[in-house]
Amino acid sequence: MFCLNGGAAATVMALLLVLFSAFQSTQVYAQQPGGVSVGYYQSNGLCNADIEGIVLNTVQTAAQTDPTIPAGLLRLLFHDCWVQGCDGSVLLDPTASNQNPEKLATPNLTLRGFDIIDQAKTALEEVCPKTVSCADIVALAAWDSVTLSGLSSGGLPMDMPTGRLDGRVSSGTEAAAVLVSSQSTAAELTQQFEQQGFSQDEMITLSGAHTIGRAHCSEIIPRLYNFPGSANGVDPSLDPTYAAQLQGECPENPEPSTTVELDPITPFIVDNNYYTNGMDNRALLLSDNAIFQDFQTEFSSMLNSDDNLLWQQKFADALLHMSTLNLKSAKDGEIRVNCRVVNGVK
Ligand code: HEM
Repeated sequence: MFCLNGGAAATVMALLLVLFSAFQSTQVYAQQPGGVSVGYYQSNGLCNADIEGIVLNTVQTAAQTDPTIPAGLLRLLFHDCWVQGCDGSVLLDPTASNQNPEKLATPNLTLRGFDIIDQAKTALEEVCPKTVSCADIVALAAWDSVTLSGLSSGGLPMDMPTGRLDGRVSSGTEAAAVLVSSQSTAAELTQQFEQQGFSQDEMITLSGAHTIGRAHCSEIIPRLYNFPGSANGVDPSLDPTYAAQLQGECPENPEPSTTVELDPITPFIVDNNYYTNGMDNRALLLSDNAIFQDFQTEFSSMLNSDDNLLWQQKFADALLHMSTLNLKSAKDGEIRVNCRVVNGVK
């Protein structure tokens, strides 16, 4: 047993208080990363308009004209959050002071949906000027995209929190270095997702986003015509019937704009067909195929292919995790007036 004199006891008490308040703030952070919450603008008295409804209406109208748009908006959130966090940095256009923003990095040249974000922003500026961040619009639009395309949570609450701030930094060089490649192995994908704080299971779960949308033929030409070590040039791990179908859609020298569906069975529905296709050797991208061929990731992929509801719930959770990645604070964030330009920049 030891005794402390008055001074030492006060020091220990102060240390405990510091530790306790650090623990408390970690708890608060864990509940609301970056201070985001469902209905943030309304509950903080910043805007009483139906912000979520306005974004939903914009996405719904766009999807009625072009049913492929939800896929574009979902990918936009991924590419926004992966570089500099979910801060709308992917939306910034080149300017005299920043000629190479994220948008110009090669993997981002096929992004779509910028005009839909602009439309929602214009509508929101009319009801609550200078209030709603572009980063929140990207997150809400992606969420609407997956729910409109059939993502169900089996009764769990599903709302996208808001309260993100827009960033002022956007670098094409950084985006090119950080964004994942369709030529990656399962180990590389696992490592890249772990670097951003995601488990391997979350990586596999999020890859199921390729249940909707399309890829340009250029992404898969090497698998179809000049796969290393293959006598006929076709990746031997591709189902031969599917490979022949893909060769029909993607000739050896395709038009640069030619695309193929990532999930040919239900290209507009968010379901676990990505996994059933993959288990049948019908994963389109080499990186997708990797998670079905690798013994470490195969089991989890098989579980997702067996249970649509389980995958949908995991996907909703992982997407919420992704949508709150590395959020900006008042120190380095702002509410942009125009989603394409940092405030005050010409
Ligand atoms: C695991 C690593 C990933 C890689 C290597 C990857 C790569 C790609 C590539 C190469 C395309 C085709 C783009 C084109 O040619 O137009 C694509 C499309 C797409 N990706 Fe991913 N992706 C990954 C993860 C994700 C994640 C996590 C999401 C969202 C949560 C996502 C959502 C999408 C969507 C929806 C499309 C279709 C886009 C459209 O139709 O315009 N991807 N991805």
